[in-house]
Amino acid sequence: MSLQFPEGFLWGGAVAANQLEGAYQKDGKGWSTQDVMPHGVKTPPTEVPTDDNMKLIGIDFYHRYKEDIKLFAEMGFKVFRTSIAWSRIFPKGDELEPNEQGLQFYDALFDECHRYGIEPLVTISHYETPLHLAREYDGWVNRKLVDFYARYARTIFTRYKDKVKYWLTFNEINSILEFPFMSGGISTPKEKLGKQELYQAIHHEFVASALAVKIGHEINPDFQIGCMVLSMPIYPLTPHPDDVIKTMESDHKNTFFADIHARGYYPGYMKRFFKENGIQIHFEPGDEAILKHTVDFISFSYYMSICETADPEKQIRGEGNLLGGVPNPYLEASDWGWQIDPKGLRCIMNAFYDRYQKPLFVVENGLGAVDRLVTDENGDKTVEDGYRIQYLRDHLVQVAEAIADGVEVLGYTSWGCIDLVSASSAELKKRYGFIYVDRHDDGSGTLERYRKKSFHWYKEVIATNGQSLFK
Ligand code: BG6
Repeated sequence: MSLQFPEGFLWGGAVAANQLEGAYQKDGKGWSTQDVMPHGVKTPPTEVPTDDNMKLIGIDFYHRYKEDIKLFAEMGFKVFRTSIAWSRIFPKGDELEPNEQGLQFYDALFDECHRYGIEPLVTISHYETPLHLAREYDGWVNRKLVDFYARYARTIFTRYKDKVKYWLTFNEINSILEFPFMSGGISTPKEKLGKQELYQAIHHEFVASALAVKIGHEINPDFQIGCMVLSMPIYPLTPHPDDVIKTMESDHKNTFFADIHARGYYPGYMKRFFKENGIQIHFEPGDEAILKHTVDFISFSYYMSICETADPEKQIRGEGNLLGGVPNPYLEASDWGWQIDPKGLRCIMNAFYDRYQKPLFVVENGLGAVDRLVTDENGDKTVEDGYRIQYLRDHLVQVAEAIADGVEVLGYTSWGCIDLVSASSAELKKRYGFIYVDRHDDGSGTLERYRKKSFHWYKEVIATNGQSLFK
């Protein structure tokens, strides 16, 4: 059977404001949680932003976006996923009126995309909660965040209603389980945060997300609003029934997030979990009805799969995209220890589609690697990133397989289409892009952009609507 991508498939790339914009206090922007996370997720936040934080300058996209969008257009992008930095629009998060200069920046950015026929896909909250909300309210633990978020969502929906059609409510919403500060703006240290507070915070995010779907559809019925989850298929380490049950239970911890977004109510297995853990979710009047505003599509990141086992001696946790898990003995890993499993992508796509029968959007996938800038035979600087091409090709073939399985897929945006600062480790040497940015972790570099080998490769993939993958 010949594999193919549907007509109108949205090919593109993805980034997040805090990882590339820089200009962290320009034009009225307030501080966000990322501005005090100089070393990623493994060290506690600093009191105020410090010079060793690569994100404060990022790749200076704030001032260079025109050049960068032009390069995306040269590759033929149909879609560009980025986020709006909440603290550019509401610098502290609890104001009544937005910051006009912040709004103007995104007006200009989206206009620039449209100049080239590129559709923006916008994440409303991507790991960049206004710092004031984290420090003064303890982030999403506080119910007031629902109102602040709703005001922010209403503001940007109204402002960009004719410029943005595709929206995502929270980036990798399930990552709050492991990283409450980065993901949920929760200042209480993780070890002191009780399960009751954590799951109540998650409930607040669910309500806010569903409210955004409701408000968005009222403002523009053509909006397509999706949830965004960190996906990681979990395989039993052995066929032992205890491993299979343990795998199912681990899976539920994450599946629960997409279940609520897609179905509009808490699944039975979570009611059991709450009961067994003494958790009582407080529902405000109306919450149940709000949750019924389910998403139009399911979007997710996919980098790797993991294994699970009931055997405590084998529960060794490997490296991985935020959540991590038991390593798979059959798989190789990236330079950062993330195991590479293209077929896992086909599995997870089928699993999502079988479960929800809603369209999917692959909004993150890619290889973080150390790249070396070299000079080619024409005297141009480039990166010979055959390893990245291999990774992306193998994954895209599996997307095509899933499409052949009958899965409805709106598009694919590879992560970090231009080099940017890593979310987990805050480094720039972990590069994902088709475009190399001359900036280094010691702060040196010209910020010049160079096309990597994968740039030309992806251009052909898009131009042939995926057919070049199968040559
Ligand atoms: C996802 C995030 O976890 O993976 C991105 O949504 C992140 O923000 C990406 O950058 C890759 O992870 P990392 O840690 O390599 O940057």
